[in-house]
Amino acid sequence: MTASMSPTRVLVAYASKHGHTRLVAERIGAVLREHRLGVELRDLGERGADPWPPDFAGVLVAASVHAGHHQKCVVSWAHGHATTLGLRPSAFVSISLTAADDTDEARSTTRRLIDELADETGWTPDASLAVAGALQYREYDLPTRVLMRLIARQHGGSTDTSDDVVYTDWPALEQFATDFADEVTAQTRARRAREEASR
Ligand SMILES: Cc1cc2nc3c(=O)[nH]c(=O)nc-3n(C[C@H](O)[C@H](O)[C@H](O)COP(=O)(O)O)c2cc1C
Repeated sequence: MTASMSPTRVLVAYASKHGHTRLVAERIGAVLREHRLGVELRDLGERGADPWPPDFAGVLVAASVHAGHHQKCVVSWAHGHATTLGLRPSAFVSISLTAADDTDEARSTTRRLIDELADETGWTPDASLAVAGALQYREYDLPTRVLMRLIARQHGGSTDTSDDVVYTDWPALEQFATDFADEVTAQTRARRAREEASR
């Protein structure tokens, strides 16, 4: 296989507390593969996980919101790699229950959470998406189940703790991943054409 035929590699880096963001990252990875991209899925919550953005033609990061913040491991990894992240197509997906609320207040909160990540890390993704997450009652310990049921009641969500509820708009997520795949592919083609021309 020549260099120009080798698959374009994309990093999907994520952190997940109860597993829903991992599902989101896997779905994104599946869409990117459908678009003939090579995908490396990395859990930034794993000990020692520190993928190196220059190894990839594009980077998509997914993190969930807990107690008003995205995961610390994502913030610190993105902060450490802000410069190289800015040199390739990059995107951020923020998963929260706030994103399930169809109100201006909720939209302004999810926007603020994404802006805060950019402020904290110095990395401004080319594209970002607020994605509604899940109530994973079956994964929670008792105090978390009680707390989340209370929050769900306040927001008109499901209070039936015998089952999980997923609020994610999968088609919107897949469209976002498709747009990102198109952007990575276009930029990679343009870069390869420049390299060919300069030989
Ligand atoms: C303990 C706890 C705290 C949470 N705090 C927030 C929050 O502050 N704002 C919000 O919008 N969603 C909050 N959520 C909802 C999560 O973002 C949502 O459930 C998401 O799907 C979790 O994904 P994960 O399991 O991959 O981490 C919270 C969930 C839990 C369990």
